Amino acid sequence: MTSPTRICCIGAGYVGGPTMAMIAYKCPDIQVTVVDLNQQRIDAWNSETLPIYEPGLHEVVKACRGRNLFFSTDCRQSVADADIVFVSVNTPTKVTGVGAGKAADLAYWEGAARMIASVSTSSKIIVEKSTVPVKTAEAIGKVLQRNCADPEVHFEILSNPEFLAEGTAIKDLENPDRVLIGGRDTEEGRAAVEALSSVYERWVPRERVLRANLWSAELSKLTANAMLAQRISSMNSISALCEATGADVQQVAHAIGTDSRIGPKFLNASVGFGGSCFQKDILNLVYICESVGLKQVADYWHSVIQMNDYQKNRFVERVISGMFNTVSGKKIAILGFAFKKDTGDTRETPAIDVCHGLISDGADLCVYDPQVPKDQIHRDLATPKFLWDHPTLPNGAQMPFSCSQIEKSVTTSSDPYQACAGSHALCVITEWDEFASLDYERIYASMSKPAFIFDGRNVLEHERLRSVGFIVYALGKPLEAFLRPE
Ligand code: UDX
Ligand code: UDX
Ligand code: ADP
Repeated sequence: MTSPTRICCIGAGYVGGPTMAMIAYKCPDIQVTVVDLNQQRIDAWNSETLPIYEPGLHEVVKACRGRNLFFSTDCRQSVADADIVFVSVNTPTKVTGVGAGKAADLAYWEGAARMIASVSTSSKIIVEKSTVPVKTAEAIGKVLQRNCADPEVHFEILSNPEFLAEGTAIKDLENPDRVLIGGRDTEEGRAAVEALSSVYERWVPRERVLRANLWSAELSKLTANAMLAQRISSMNSISALCEATGADVQQVAHAIGTDSRIGPKFLNASVGFGGSCFQKDILNLVYICESVGLKQVADYWHSVIQMNDYQKNRFVERVISGMFNTVSGKKIAILGFAFKKDTGDTRETPAIDVCHGLISDGADLCVYDPQVPKDQIHRDLATPKFLWDHPTLPNGAQMPFSCSQIEKSVTTSSDPYQACAGSHALCVITEWDEFASLDYERIYASMSKPAFIFDGRNVLEHERLRSVGFIVYALGKPLEAFLRPE
């Protein structure tokens, strides 16, 4: 099987959808079908309003949908017809049973594997796309081979972790730093790696297609995300020290980033990292380490999450202490709810924890985000979080919040000026570009005085805002006391 022509991807989510769209775009002779159990999601992929917001995605989908890119709920037929099956289903953290709160829930993966086994009448390459614990391929291999009625059918499993980041998915897919393919070191394994590699090599230079064994490929994905998250937690820890001493975290980041061994990227201190991957993958890593008896290693990586929780908590405490030790009954505008700019995704967004902390102290919030709809914001804030993930909730918040409490304490607005009007403070939680160019004179005039700004992303011009009249707190920046000693 050296020139596969039919690809099927199970799971039309943030990873499966854009990745398959790019493959179809770059390989017009390959038929790519993306399947999902969720009819609504498939309908959206077939409509003018795609289910996810991602710059450039619509153009890529439009160029090949109906030509060689198809979205369907007919999972069984599409899998049966395919030479290569990507599995890109969700692997959330388990919420009950052994490993709850840490281990990955592989129920969706296993369901997909059983389905593949039951419909296959020809040999296939099965590609792990979702992040999975190390050695999943081995377990899945057993499920596949033992559930397939035809002994002639062979499944060769590859690990091909996806490194795209949301908001830049199309850029990342079009020009990846690397593509990683893990496979068995056997004749069949090597042939399968070559077959998948030949797909990527249509547009990715061959030297950027890295080959590894299965376990190394699986572990690389977890390690990459853990290291990225660790960089942010490291900078966030330094941001606390900067505030306490009068240093400036952006100057520190710039200075250390020029060391070629450290590099300049991913050094932005923030109110905390979010997204569907970092926390989940680290918890997964922690669980794997614990299960092989490496307690010190598990504790080391767990501290990355603890530092992230500390940072969110610290931000909330700074808002409350800055506003004379109470926000009770005060209106606070929350600018940005997505976990980062250029996405409507709110999974694990720090905004949830910050809002909960402020609501616990009695604040009335008005949230503005250019991509996250009102229903989503209310649903996220009313959904109970699992306490084992967050042993220290911001400001000692009690979970869960009732829907009525959220309804009472949180409004949303589709206009940033309206969100800020009448507020005592505004908090920047997501680094949307548009926040830098708002008319802050107009906003200041509409706010209660003294008017506070808490910039959790360092995207505003702080000195200019101070000259407008705001009291400005910026993460990891010298506090007013250092700037203007009495
Ligand atoms: C991440 C990985 O980057 C990607 O390779 C992997 O495939 C999936 O997980 P993603 O979660 O989409 O991607 O976003 P990313 O850009 O990594 O940001 C994650 C979080 O870290 C966001 O909340 C972001 O705001 C935050 N962040 C990022 C910082 O706080 N500071 C930084 O310097 C960079
Ligand atoms: C370090 C800093 O690199 C330098 O910028 C600073 O001015 C002084 O401290 P040095 O201690 O001379 O320099 O050596 P370095 O090359 O950084 O190595 C430090 C230790 O880390 C060594 O024991 C080295 O073997 C170890 N190391 C380095 C690793 O174990 N793995 C690596 O990938 C790199
Ligand atoms: P990711 O961010 O990893 O892409 P998502 O949650 O966005 O994850 O997408 C995973 C998708 O996989 C969901 O749309 C879900 O409906 C789909 N899915 C899960 N299990 C199956 C299955 N057995 N068959 C088809 N689709 C599935």
